[in-house]
Amino acid sequence: MTRWLVPALLLMGLLSLAACRVDDPASSATPTPADPAALGQQTFAKWCAVCHGADGQGYVNALNAPALNAGGEAYKLTDQAILDAINDGGAASGGSTGGGSMAPLGNALTGAEKTAVLEYVHSLWSADELAAHESSGAHTP
Ligand code: HEC
Repeated sequence: MTRWLVPALLLMGLLSLAACRVDDPASSATPTPADPAALGQQTFAKWCAVCHGADGQGYVNALNAPALNAGGEAYKLTDQAILDAINDGGAASGGSTGGGSMAPLGNALTGAEKTAVLEYVHSLWSADELAAHESSGAHTP
């Protein structure tokens, strides 16, 4: 009669442990990005969207940060120029669009975040723009 009781109790214990995991607010509030695409999206939302717009559409505040998505001309930049802009801000572009007011983020972002956000910017472009970017030799991952 007690033969099934032990495994049954064990099973109930395991199930309640599993339930705790799912409900743990600390682990669900800050999910670890599973892949670079998720990291890039999160990095963009956290560090770039405030000036370049949630969709990279640009011109969302008085700094007039240019569009980084398919509506702009960011695909004409080399990957190195994009990374320079991330690292050195407006100083890198010399204010190519007039302001020179982009914040340098070289120390704020990790190397993985910079690579991931560069990939995320690529993902905002149309297939034609990405192809033009790649065939012009601007693509240097
Ligand atoms: C404080 C506002 C601000 C933030 C934050 C910001 N930018 Fe910018 N960004 C600008 C502005 C303004 C320009 C236009 C050039 C200038 O005035 O510095 C610019 C220009 C650029 C350019 C074009 C550089 C060139 O040579 O034409 C790229 C690429 C870029 N930003 C990417 C990013 C990425 C990626 C992030 C997030 C990691 C980011 N920016 C965060 C304001 C910002």
